[in-house]
Amino acid sequence: MKFQSIYASILILAFNHFLIAFAAHPCIDYPDPLNPGRFEFTDCPNIVEDDIEDLPNVKREIQNFFHIDINCYSDATLCKKIKKAFDDAGKEISKVLKLKKKIYVNATFESFSLMERNVLGSTYPTRSIFLTSDDKITRLYPQALAKQFSLNVHPAYSKYDINSRFNADFGWWFKSDNKTIETDQYDFSIVVLHELIHGLGFISSWDNSLETNVYQYVTGLTSIYYFYDNKYGGFVENIFDRYLKLIENKKKIPLSDYTAQLDKSVPPMTPFNTILQFTNRVKSSPKWKYAKLVLKAATTNNSIIFTPAKRTSWNQDIYLETSLKPFNAGSSISHVSQLKYRKTSDFLMTYQQFPGQTLEYFIKRGGNYKSPIGPRIISILESIGYATDTHPNPVKPTLPSKKYPTM
Ligand SMILES: *[C@@H]1O[C@H](CO)[C@@H](O)[C@H](O)[C@H]1NC(C)=O
Ligand SMILES: *[C@@H]1O[C@H](CO)[C@@H](O)[C@H](O)[C@H]1NC(C)=O
Ligand SMILES: *[C@@H]1O[C@H](CO)[C@@H](O)[C@H](O)[C@H]1NC(C)=O
Ligand SMILES: [Zn+2]
Repeated sequence: MKFQSIYASILILAFNHFLIAFAAHPCIDYPDPLNPGRFEFTDCPNIVEDDIEDLPNVKREIQNFFHIDINCYSDATLCKKIKKAFDDAGKEISKVLKLKKKIYVNATFESFSLMERNVLGSTYPTRSIFLTSDDKITRLYPQALAKQFSLNVHPAYSKYDINSRFNADFGWWFKSDNKTIETDQYDFSIVVLHELIHGLGFISSWDNSLETNVYQYVTGLTSIYYFYDNKYGGFVENIFDRYLKLIENKKKIPLSDYTAQLDKSVPPMTPFNTILQFTNRVKSSPKWKYAKLVLKAATTNNSIIFTPAKRTSWNQDIYLETSLKPFNAGSSISHVSQLKYRKTSDFLMTYQQFPGQTLEYFIKRGGNYKSPIGPRIISILESIGYATDTHPNPVKPTLPSKKYPTM
């Protein structure tokens, strides 16, 4: 199914080939947060803003920078509680991040399919756009983050910044009920905060979709591959991935080096008839060994770290989730290590949530932090470009100087 879906979108794009501008301003959309491997290329022509005023600098404690539309498939009482939990989470994040532009969330509360029954919720940026970081490497920035830079020229944004789905089949606990949590209930506020932070860009592009999209056995991981109009355009990473390092024989090697190596696996603009041919070509390149090394690190304890940017809230390496074997797209890498941080102030971004315990309990156990969003998590958000009170001027990316990738 995954393959068919991607293949279908390629056909549509090929059909639109006569629109030159269409190919010149690509961005990437993720229609289903539960299946980010099914990304699609979209045309995002540059928009010139005549009004780049930021929202007025009001008192942050009361301003909620999140606008959340909820498609709630449940009874009115429950839906009201859900809405309240979202608003509270939006306010909590607005307290720690100095947001400048509103963030629009498309949230759905519904029964999940049998295959997804163990998933509490899932979130992904609706759109990622190409911007050039200050190290001159062009990367994918989630739209919610890109907006905060107030660029006067930027690729077109989609209506929503974040797509979020929550599983209505779990027993959810809400603080506003004033009841003790049951052993099989999950605190909804934890899941909402966790998911919104993914939507802000706490997300790695490294996954196994190159092989799983064509039903192949997983032998390596890659960042996102640019495959457009049946031509190969390159491998590109998320801004989150800029700060990742792989530990090999006690040496720390930036994952950006691995992206750069994979990028050379196929000459740019090589045409392919199918995505299967493309996959096979990438895998027959000597560069595939880099994909294998990343898979090995992603499935070996303490082998991938996030090294925060200078002068952020945390100045030590942060271990990411690499304890899962086999690799689990969606859980591995895009979370902090559960073994290390479950009982710390940074419990919020581990891959599993536990029933029978409330947000208050975790905050207390983590050392009584003022915010459920711990210092390691804040430093990750600061590193990718969010401003905070103590890190007010993150480095701005720029529009790619040449059309990227070249067509
Ligand atoms: C909102 O999310 C739902 C569920 O994922 C999706 O079906 C719908 O298309 C989304 N709406 C928009 C405008 O993106
Ligand atoms: C829970 O307690 C608060 C504050 O005491 C009160 O305002 C609220 O109505 C209570 N909620 C329920 C469902 O009883
Ligand atoms: C990581 O360590 C834990 C606890 O020591 C162990 O249970 C798990 O199997 C390890 N995972 C891997 C991939 O080595
Ligand atoms: Zn998560």
